[in-house]
Amino acid sequence: AVNMAEESKKLAAYFAVDNSVQNNQVVGVGSGSTIVYAVDRLAERVRQEQLNIVCVPTSFQARQLILQHGLTLSDLERHPELDVAIDGADEVDAELTLIKGGGGCLTQEKIVASCSKYFVVIADYRKDSKALGQQWKKGVPIEVIPMAYVPVSRMIAKRFGGEVNLRMAISKAGPVVTDNGNFILDWKFEHAQNWKEVNTAIKMIPGVVETGLFVNMAEQAYFGMEDGSV
Ligand code: A5P
Repeated sequence: AVNMAEESKKLAAYFAVDNSVQNNQVVGVGSGSTIVYAVDRLAERVRQEQLNIVCVPTSFQARQLILQHGLTLSDLERHPELDVAIDGADEVDAELTLIKGGGGCLTQEKIVASCSKYFVVIADYRKDSKALGQQWKKGVPIEVIPMAYVPVSRMIAKRFGGEVNLRMAISKAGPVVTDNGNFILDWKFEHAQNWKEVNTAIKMIPGVVETGLFVNMAEQAYFGMEDGSV
């Protein structure tokens, strides 16, 4: 089952790079395990077709992937307008609302996606969902300024219900620290909500940097399926 999921990630990633990237484009590179396959394919195409592609990373991981593959690294200072951004997701609902941030990179991912004319999601079949929460059980990641994590947690639980947990590191004692030096809260919501409203309301709480809810951002989602189709 694990190999099947990996194969599906690769399928979606290759399909997206083959169909959504053209010569002379500025491409946003997402984070996570699925994007690794997309960068592999992008590097292959750049070599084989001698493409002129500039890459803008969404995380430390994405930056390393770009450099390791010998792709052209840029940033939003030099390239504030992207042609296409490609990224994974933790869950995608029927409206293409996303939960992102399972890997803690949601803020830069959302910034880069927002600067892109076209935002493409790549994922395996397990991420395809009718309503958020049906597939991804860990809740909505929310990046917060460290000193505010307790009041923000309390406010979210009080206003929207559910449970809010500070994400803890696995191989270190203490919290996960993001690429931006902040903490991550995981909000386990109890029931479906108006995600656009909730996203706006949570963002208004002082101390919140960004939420992992991506509403009306993705133009397209490609899922690698178990039968080998996309
Ligand atoms: C990173 O913080 C996330 O937003 C990822 O984009 C998301 O978790 C998808 O990751 P996978 O491709 O590993 O599922």
